[in-house]
Amino acid sequence: ILISGNGTNLQAIIDHQKTHQSLYEVDAVISNNPDAFGLTRAKQENIKTFVTPSKNITKDLFSTQLCQLVSALNPDLIVLAGFMKILSPAFIKSFPDKIINIHPSLLPKYKGLRTHERVMENNEKIHGATVHHVTEELDAGEIIGQFIFKIENNDNLDMIIKKVHQGERLLFPKIIEMLSNQSIKIEDGKVISQSNEIKVPINLLAP
Ligand code: GRF
Repeated sequence: ILISGNGTNLQAIIDHQKTHQSLYEVDAVISNNPDAFGLTRAKQENIKTFVTPSKNITKDLFSTQLCQLVSALNPDLIVLAGFMKILSPAFIKSFPDKIINIHPSLLPKYKGLRTHERVMENNEKIHGATVHHVTEELDAGEIIGQFIFKIENNDNLDMIIKKVHQGERLLFPKIIEMLSNQSIKIEDGKVISQSNEIKVPINLLAP
């Protein structure tokens, strides 16, 4: 799991695995930010941690170091959970069909940063979060699942941010669980359901 900050998604993924006895295991946590609180969370869970600093080095060197580290760990899945660096094309090419990300908007709308602010500015009626396959084009890989909620008339920016975060913590572990038990798969950049009962993208609607 690659992180840059607080690591609430990381925590949700760890907690879900324990409470649901899911098949997946968080093998390692890597941060580009040495001060990320997510590193402390991982250590508390006895998960190995690594820091590949992204400050004061070239993008190419950062990418090479990260690629070497991740290759050595030989993961089945690379999870971007609040990882705030854009991965290089070389990195993405090294791990085909293995990288997923959580993005705080209903993609394909609101790629990039300031998603919540733009949603409010545009008076959107719905908002949410998306788990998607990572490709070289930013926030544009196939959608695996979304958490969707209705924006109420009295919702303000803080309230919608909170709702997105709550939704992310439900959606992300669920998708990782489904990838680990192969009820969904990523093959050649396509997200495939293994059962007729599961429709992809997965839609989690807020109650
Ligand atoms: C999440 O809102 C995620 O969508 C975005 O960064 C945030 C990470 O939060 N990419 P955390 O570090 O998991 O608490």
